[in-house]
Amino acid sequence: MAKKKKFSTHMEKEIHEIPDVVLRIIQNYAPVFCERILPDVNELAKLFYECDTVHIAACGTAYHAGLVIGKLMEEHCKIRTKVYIASEFNPLVKSNDIAIVVSQSGETADTVSAMKRMKEYNIPIVALCNVENSTIAKTADWVIPTRAGQEVSVASTKAFIAQVLCGVILVNNIFYSKYGRLLYTKSELLNIPLQATKLLSRKREIKQLAKLHRKTQRIFFLGSGMDAFLAYESALKVKEITYNHCEGYAALEFRHGTMALVDDKTLCVGINTSQEKNDKLNNLMNDVKSRGSKIWNIDLFESGNNLSFVVGAIPSFFFALYLSKEKGNNTDKPRNLTKAVTIE
Ligand code: AGP
Repeated sequence: MAKKKKFSTHMEKEIHEIPDVVLRIIQNYAPVFCERILPDVNELAKLFYECDTVHIAACGTAYHAGLVIGKLMEEHCKIRTKVYIASEFNPLVKSNDIAIVVSQSGETADTVSAMKRMKEYNIPIVALCNVENSTIAKTADWVIPTRAGQEVSVASTKAFIAQVLCGVILVNNIFYSKYGRLLYTKSELLNIPLQATKLLSRKREIKQLAKLHRKTQRIFFLGSGMDAFLAYESALKVKEITYNHCEGYAALEFRHGTMALVDDKTLCVGINTSQEKNDKLNNLMNDVKSRGSKIWNIDLFESGNNLSFVVGAIPSFFFALYLSKEKGNNTDKPRNLTKAVTIE
């Protein structure tokens, strides 16, 4: 019975809650994870940097958050990481491995069943979970509550950002325990809510864009590195509530077949949250444009900000929301879907 307040949909309200959610997470966890390492947190970090492989399993949006977390762990903490769609979880496991599951609801059947396999392998399970008394939280050995607050809209938005941010903080903590210095300082983390607020102010412009693309037939989100995962997540959101054909691609992979679908009824969206200009992505965007596609560049470059990817999905969330509204869809309850998929 959650209220929508001044917003017409829960999804819109939940996107607007993102600055508060990220600030709350940083305030809750930063003292624990970033400055004073508590004994049990240290113990958890040790499990990670002493393990052979981290196995991450999740579904849908939570899987995309898992991809982000896996990449951060591997790149910065130099820990081998494998990320699985929970329903396909069938790994080769060593006795000193560790598992992570990511879930908003904590009740997703495919993730619960991946956890059963993890239990059989007898490896420690860490859950990043938004519902603290859920099956997944109760089954895990360690729980990191993602603290996004109740999420009503079937399309997950603030919970995704919370999962990514909790992953960032976990990685920061592991990095600190391993190398004795922080990967991200508290002030870098505290810039995230500010950037989220700035992105909310772009909603009018994005609403216009959605209006313009009411009749667009195919949409592709393209990004490299971390931004490929944001592209997958953006595309899932658009499909889920607009029913448009939409795919997310690692930018350069797009040239290897799917580019044949580009025509004048296509919109290609390039995502760049990195510190550098992405020349290869820019070339690709120019190429699709010359083949008739409309283009939209989501460029979140901010000098000195290495954490733009945390809130990098906000523009796509707005785009999905407004396109769904343009089409007269029930944005909060898209057809054929439920908030938690409790059947396998
Ligand atoms: C997200 O917009 C989707 N509704 C869906 O992919 C969801 O993230 C997935 O079913 C996993 O749910 P969970 O996070 O509750 O486990």
